[in-house]
Amino acid sequence: MIILKSESEIAAMRKAGRVVAQAHEIVRERLRPGITTADIDRWVAEFFQRVGAVSAFKGYHGYPAHVCTSVNDEVVHGIPGPRVLEEGDIIAVDIGAFVDGFCGDSAWTYPVGQVSELAQKLLRVTEESLMKAIEQAVAGNRLSDIGHAVQSHVEAAGFSVVKSFVGHGIGRSMHEAPQIPNFGRPGRGPKLKEGMTLAIEPMVNAGGDDVRILEDNWTAVTADGSLSAHFEHTVAVREGQAEILTVV
Ligand code: MF3
Ligand code: CO
Repeated sequence: MIILKSESEIAAMRKAGRVVAQAHEIVRERLRPGITTADIDRWVAEFFQRVGAVSAFKGYHGYPAHVCTSVNDEVVHGIPGPRVLEEGDIIAVDIGAFVDGFCGDSAWTYPVGQVSELAQKLLRVTEESLMKAIEQAVAGNRLSDIGHAVQSHVEAAGFSVVKSFVGHGIGRSMHEAPQIPNFGRPGRGPKLKEGMTLAIEPMVNAGGDDVRILEDNWTAVTADGSLSAHFEHTVAVREGQAEILTVV
């Protein structure tokens, strides 16, 4: 069942979304070669504590950190630790928070210093695919219009969409129905309605779409070692144009 939110519930989700976006601003400003992924985790944890937000990830099925940090060939769910970021790396930072009982969830992939032409293209195409997906998140469309928009944009650029992880409904829980694949034929699935709140999150590989999970049981990496990017916003379905909730 897809839970529709009232205007006052969407206002609460806007608050959670803003906190997540502010955490991303902190990360973006401080990110540079020489920092560790654990530094990012600490910056966000301190910020959440200061504003009274609670990480949506820490403790989720035993996840050990406040954020996910996925470097280069890591697709999603990388665990922050002693890894030092180097010039030329790309890093997906995934941040989720509960504020006043509602959840915001957003991921962004950042270049560390100057990155390769390929990495720049991968970041651009993946971000564009998220924006094209959000354009489809309007009342009257069908759920699969979202994934179709991602897949067509990504494959036209010569990249591949990860199939084994999906976006999701979001609200009082981080994960609600429906699941939102980043691929598929258009015009399928439930009709989108005003008041649905969705976390749309394309994961895109420069090479093949296969992923495997590392020994830590969390970190997903590309099977072929190619670069991967992840962009995510929490949005509210509206008539005419979706509202992005994870903005400052
Ligand atoms: N944004 C991710 C999601 O939507 C991250 C959650 S993984 C966690 O599923 F385990 F760290 F919580
Ligand atoms: Co998510």
